[in-house]
Amino acid sequence: MSDHLFGSLSIRGTTVRNRVMVSPMCQYSCDRDGLATDWHEVHLGSRATGGAGIVMTEATAVEPRGRISPHDLGIWSDDHADALAPVAEFVSERGATPAIQLAHAGRKASKTRPWDGSVPLQPDEGGWETVAPSASPYPYDDGEARTRKLDREDVEEVKANFVAAAERAIDAGFEIAEVHAAHGYLLHEFLSPVTNHRDDEYGGDFEGRTRLVREIVSAVREVWPGDLPVFVRVSATDWLPDRESWTVEDTARLAPLLADAGADLVDVSAGGLHPDQRIPSAGPNYQVPYAERVGESTEALVGAVGGINEAEQADALIRNDRADLAIVGREHLRDPYFALHAAEKLGVEDEAEWPIQYRRAVQ
Ligand SMILES: Cc1cc2nc3c(=O)[nH]c(=O)nc-3n(C[C@H](O)[C@H](O)[C@H](O)COP(=O)(O)O)c2cc1C
Repeated sequence: MSDHLFGSLSIRGTTVRNRVMVSPMCQYSCDRDGLATDWHEVHLGSRATGGAGIVMTEATAVEPRGRISPHDLGIWSDDHADALAPVAEFVSERGATPAIQLAHAGRKASKTRPWDGSVPLQPDEGGWETVAPSASPYPYDDGEARTRKLDREDVEEVKANFVAAAERAIDAGFEIAEVHAAHGYLLHEFLSPVTNHRDDEYGGDFEGRTRLVREIVSAVREVWPGDLPVFVRVSATDWLPDRESWTVEDTARLAPLLADAGADLVDVSAGGLHPDQRIPSAGPNYQVPYAERVGESTEALVGAVGGINEAEQADALIRNDRADLAIVGREHLRDPYFALHAAEKLGVEDEAEWPIQYRRAVQ
């Protein structure tokens, strides 16, 4: 029988209980300096209680200037790991696999929270200078941003920060590390010719522009325990068809190289690099064709994300071999119990998956 949504997934020495992953989603809810709060524990803990196989944290900054807003989660010190440890522990206790997205926001850092407008923060408002492969700021409509080009030494520092963050994530109890190379943040900015105008070995042709991502995945893989998985999230395309940009075919070329560098799964998203992007459709499964194209190009597992909201839809993705993992974002905000409800709808409900405290409601 082919795999299905509630079939377990074994990756290296790790077995995930089903194929539903909570997509990383920023909560902008740190009170100070990137330290996890009760919000993170309750929010992520609820989705683990709700039956998801993998519960991924939001983008967690590997250094302070890599935060999108001052309220983002971080993992740049041992105190950060200590604050995240109870989150990972609770998620594990609930039977889900705790995962962390390691991130650097690059030139899209130093902004207010979405509910405050996502506008660039000025220095007198607690903002900071952003960094990127080249000194071109994100073209905001409302507000000035300043962006400095990372020199060679800075690039080494960024790599070291990803590795140190991964080491702390292990101490905190996470079992999957995802390198965030999507949505116009730092590593995506290196990949795309729209944002990378460097003339050193980290720019220029495909090999140069992909070097930093490949090196970071490989360095994270080296410190991440051999029995635990490493994922990478990519934007399959910049959605900028009218100019030289990062395309699905570039991603299909990159995916096997990421697998060689030690990535076990490619999490296939899209866009976010430039405000001129044209999203062809944002309906159900809108990014799944990209995941399928990536799946054809690599032996690595592939995760699909975007517009996956229904049980049957998610199940069909796995049964029809279009993806190995159904990654569900906003539907998990609407329904923390998406996975348990999906099992019910699909007729594969296992009472034992419900918290024992709640079982009288499902008997
Ligand atoms: C509130 C919110 C925060 C998000 N934060 C992140 C993030 O931290 N990292 C990331 O890779 N994607 C982030 N995303 C994108 C989601 O992970 C997901 O890819 C996107 O919402 C499409 O999936 P969906 O249609 O299931 O929501 C965020 C999306 C939302 C709605």
